Amino acid sequence: MEKKKLIAGNWKMNGNLEANDALVRALVAGMKDAACSVAVCVPAPYLGQVQLLKAGSALELGAQDVSPHAQGAYTGEVSAPMLREFGVRYAIVGHSERRQYHGETDALVAEKAKTALAHGVTPIVCVGETLAEREAGQTEEVVKRQLAAVIHVNGHCISEIVVAYEPVWAIGTGKTATPEMAQQVHGLLRKQLGAATSHAERVHILYGGSMNAANAASLLAQPDIDGGLVGGASLKAADFLQIVAAAS
Ligand code: G3P
Repeated sequence: MEKKKLIAGNWKMNGNLEANDALVRALVAGMKDAACSVAVCVPAPYLGQVQLLKAGSALELGAQDVSPHAQGAYTGEVSAPMLREFGVRYAIVGHSERRQYHGETDALVAEKAKTALAHGVTPIVCVGETLAEREAGQTEEVVKRQLAAVIHVNGHCISEIVVAYEPVWAIGTGKTATPEMAQQVHGLLRKQLGAATSHAERVHILYGGSMNAANAASLLAQPDIDGGLVGGASLKAADFLQIVAAAS
């Protein structure tokens, strides 16, 4: 049975109670006929609000980060067990913005994925190269290194993760990777997963980086692009729902 595509919105540090209410209500109303999985990864303060707003719908809830620890003296961190109390299904780990601004290493990302899996949260593991790395011909080396760290720690359950290929130079820039460029990397990641598990086809490999209503269909038509991790276009219900429709 062909797996359903997954479209996950990453709101990043955006939203407020009033806007969230309108956005989520519009998403719930507009996704009733969706033939793909849909999630929104919201800032931690809004998990309770969105959990209530999405009740009874197929909309899934995600977080944008998770602690590598399950409990303890880690000021400011949020644990996977806490996320589960709000019905959170996914947690983004290793987003390039956290690697860049918070110095998150491949090893830390792997540990976050491990703890998430151990407590029933599916990690969306982000990999991707910078423009300088692409221009230096290092794309394959970079993304395979980033994924290898997660496989090294989570190999026994690697088929349970979600991977997101997010070329850093395409994030928030409007410079989307072409479908062919994206597929080339997705194919590499699928092959790398295949060496670690016989269930590589089960893993959703999402594309992220200026996915929008205009380009979603051509990206999602690629054989190893199983969905999208959508930033800016997830903040407007009409735009996000057009991407959902393209994945359905
Ligand atoms: O996590 C998704 C995000 O990095 C992509 O952002 O605005 O380019 O869709 P955007």
